Amino acid sequence: MKEAYRQVFQSGAQIFREGESGSLAYIIERGEVEISSLIKGSATPLARLRDGDLFGEMALIDDNVRSATATALCETEVIIVSRDYVKNKITQADPLLNLFLRVLLKRLRTTGNTQPLRFGTNPGNESDVREQFLDRLLYEREMQSALESNQFELYYQPIVHLDSGCIAGFESLIRWNHPKRGLVPPAEFIDTAENNGLIVVMGEWILKEATRALELFEKARAERPQPLYMSINVSGRQFAESDLPTIMREIFKSCDIAPGQIKLEITETLLMENPELAALSLEHIKNQGIRVAIDDFGTGYSSLSYLNRFPIDTLKIDRSFVSSMFSSDKSLEIVRMLTELARGLGMDIIAEGIEEEAQADQLRTFGCDYGQGYLYAKPVPVKQAMAFVRDNTPFRAREDYPA
Ligand code: C2E
Ligand code: CMP
Ligand code: CA
Ligand code: CA
Repeated sequence: MKEAYRQVFQSGAQIFREGESGSLAYIIERGEVEISSLIKGSATPLARLRDGDLFGEMALIDDNVRSATATALCETEVIIVSRDYVKNKITQADPLLNLFLRVLLKRLRTTGNTQPLRFGTNPGNESDVREQFLDRLLYEREMQSALESNQFELYYQPIVHLDSGCIAGFESLIRWNHPKRGLVPPAEFIDTAENNGLIVVMGEWILKEATRALELFEKARAERPQPLYMSINVSGRQFAESDLPTIMREIFKSCDIAPGQIKLEITETLLMENPELAALSLEHIKNQGIRVAIDDFGTGYSSLSYLNRFPIDTLKIDRSFVSSMFSSDKSLEIVRMLTELARGLGMDIIAEGIEEEAQADQLRTFGCDYGQGYLYAKPVPVKQAMAFVRDNTPFRAREDYPA
């Protein structure tokens, strides 16, 4: 699959013919391609395209037949762009751009193809745009094949009971073990995955993998006073486009985890973007017994009305409030208010990004139930998380806990 993105045509090979239907566009990596058209019965060359030039795009945009024939003039290597990929981008684009594109193409088709189009000779910034596009295309493909070759890995960060320092559960956080760049943090690729839709497939893998890890953790525990839980981040598109309840039901069939041990972390933004859909999906998720947390609470739209409207179990106070609690009276007050609010509404509350014991003390005083942060542990690979569970020493009593 990986190498199907590129193709080599031998000298003289016809890449496609005028009048055929077309489902691929091409960018020349090296070589030369002649575009020709039958004009008054004879094949007439229209253009010679070289490295970096794009061709075969017209049929993809308007579903019309190929307007000309493309022939390799020497051994030519091309990058292939599929119709689905282009269609996907066009539907996502601003409708105005879409309109411009179609009008332009229609004008071109009605004026006829008898003049060479001035590919690549434009002194403007076409080549910059092309570079950007190529960078993105290659990055997306790299991510796709990384997913296929298991380069993604989930790390697990303990979430502790603030009063005892014992582990209550974990949050799964994705990493990319890049063969050249090393460990890549999610901030560098989650948005891209969200934009190109890969997050849907990736998200399904994340749900499976994190639940499987939780099963391992449970098995590793000598005593099990309370089940551990796993908090899993779910992105907007994943929430909107994949059938989470069905996916989770399938996962539960093959492992010994109760739905109540899974908590999905969603953001305020996700809820407010499409409240009707969110309400419906949340209802299905909740009916199944899965729990729901609002992540980064206080940083998004923060309309308190949704706390009423949606069935939410947990609020996660954003790290920005916790880290500035002692430098800003306002942050301190916000944290106090949020804790009170959550308790009043019968929700659990987790404080994120706890790095100092003083913060943990303050949060405990406010009545915050759970904490998560570097004070306890950074996100770690599954093996080390398993060691935490097996060891079972409360973080506050551990040797590596700051005095
Ligand atoms: P998030 O969900 O808010 O995750 C918390 C982030 O804070 C994590 O960064 C975690 O490593 C970091 N963190 C935890 N404790 C501390 C602390 O005490 N101090 C500091 N400075 N940082 C702390 P990470 O792992 O880089 O993840 C960043 C974001 O990427 C996440 O923010 C989440 O929005 C997204 N993400 C991570 N994994 C996934 C995933 O599996 N699916 C989706 N959709 N998004 C994910
Ligand atoms: P498409 O119509 O899909 O297939 C033929 C391709 O040749 C077309 O997309 C353009 O990429 C390219 N093409 C068509 N007409 C010209 C022209 N006059 N000059 C240069 N290239 C052209
Ligand atoms: Ca989170
Ligand atoms: Ca967060």
